[in-house]
Amino acid sequence: MRTPRSGRPALHGRNLVLGISGGIAAYKAAYLARRLHEAGAQVRTVMTGGALRFLGEQTMAAITGRAVVTTLFGSDQAGPSPHTELARWADALVVAPATANVLAKVANGLADDALTATVAAFDGPVVLAPAMHTEMWQQPATARNVRLLEEDGRCLVGPVAGELAAGDSGMGRMAEPEDILASVAGVFDDSLRGLTVLVTAGGTREAIDPVRYVGNRSSGKMGHELALEAARRGATVVLVTTTTPPDMPCSVEVVPVESAEDMAHQVWARASALDVAVLAAAVADFRPADVAGTKLARSDGPPRIVLEPTPNVLAGLVERKEPGTTVVGFAAETGGVDRAVRKATTYGADFVVANDVTSPGSGFGTDTNQVTIISAAGESTPLEMMTKRGVAGAIWSHVSALREDEG
Ligand SMILES: Cc1cc2nc3c(=O)[nH]c(=O)nc-3n(C[C@H](O)[C@H](O)[C@H](O)COP(=O)(O)O)c2cc1C
Repeated sequence: MRTPRSGRPALHGRNLVLGISGGIAAYKAAYLARRLHEAGAQVRTVMTGGALRFLGEQTMAAITGRAVVTTLFGSDQAGPSPHTELARWADALVVAPATANVLAKVANGLADDALTATVAAFDGPVVLAPAMHTEMWQQPATARNVRLLEEDGRCLVGPVAGELAAGDSGMGRMAEPEDILASVAGVFDDSLRGLTVLVTAGGTREAIDPVRYVGNRSSGKMGHELALEAARRGATVVLVTTTTPPDMPCSVEVVPVESAEDMAHQVWARASALDVAVLAAAVADFRPADVAGTKLARSDGPPRIVLEPTPNVLAGLVERKEPGTTVVGFAAETGGVDRAVRKATTYGADFVVANDVTSPGSGFGTDTNQVTIISAAGESTPLEMMTKRGVAGAIWSHVSALREDEG
């Protein structure tokens, strides 16, 4: 599989401010600066007092070829007002690593050092790469700050699960510099501009009677992140969903549905107008053959519910779509993703995104996901565990690369 993550064209000639805060991952910021520089960006660095305990100012100055800003007052590193100077110069800010402290400050508009004052003075895109021990990441206060940051439109990349400092491992490791670079490139990315994309999300509900249904545990988060990310990349989006999404930009049309049949109708009706369809919903395979007209009563004893197959949304879309439409299926499996290879090679999707919903940190209701991309030829590429937003970005990058390859 081709992994499109160089970000070179998007970053060429851009002015980037790299903020570094006081986490152990600060040493990786030096490599990130180098990669941003290689991608053609001009990089200026602003470091907190904590960051200076982990990484030398001179290292960053040598890599970027520019003086590093470490203080707001009493220095001529960037003139008499370094934060406004940097903010006016920058096309985007990236903070890597972003400590729990910096997340809290930025989420609440605090600006008591050169880094956070620069963020406060800047009105463009801000990419934050959190890095911290699992306990710090899982603190309710940190989770609350992350929600605020996302509501404010900040772009968070990572953290990911993996090895941490002092021999520990778990969620909280900073995203790899290449993935941060791809996210920074992403803020300039309008690779889906001009395209109409459809995303399905959530678990379908198949009525037993007017009150009860057969359903599944899908929260819809993965599909909602896919819709948001497509809108960020410039697409016009139709989101067909069984669950209520968070606030969506006006380029996203939300179409609420309930059952597999409703979903099939909505998707198939739009088939000929789509450039891309990503079917992330967990669609029931079977539904009650007869739906009771009134609520079943306990006093009538346990009902015998006979099931019948539901419409196959993916197969029906492939039949109806135009030749140039890219179709992506999802497969939620348990105990490994081997069965998803059959789905990828059978139904005519361009690729399938498979995940094992029983593995920790993956699947229904979680904020993270570990997925495997399976090509139509059955070739599997597992991605590392990342946030669902990160997975959404990787899927859209793969769609764009595939469409580019196909001309
Ligand atoms: C050895 C060591 C490693 C640390 N690593 C992290 C880290 O990875 N993430 C984090 O949020 N805080 C970490 N801290 C705590 C921060 O350095 C501390 O909260 C500091 O106030 C952050 O300041 P800053 O956000 O202004 O850079 C670490 C502290 C020490 C002593």
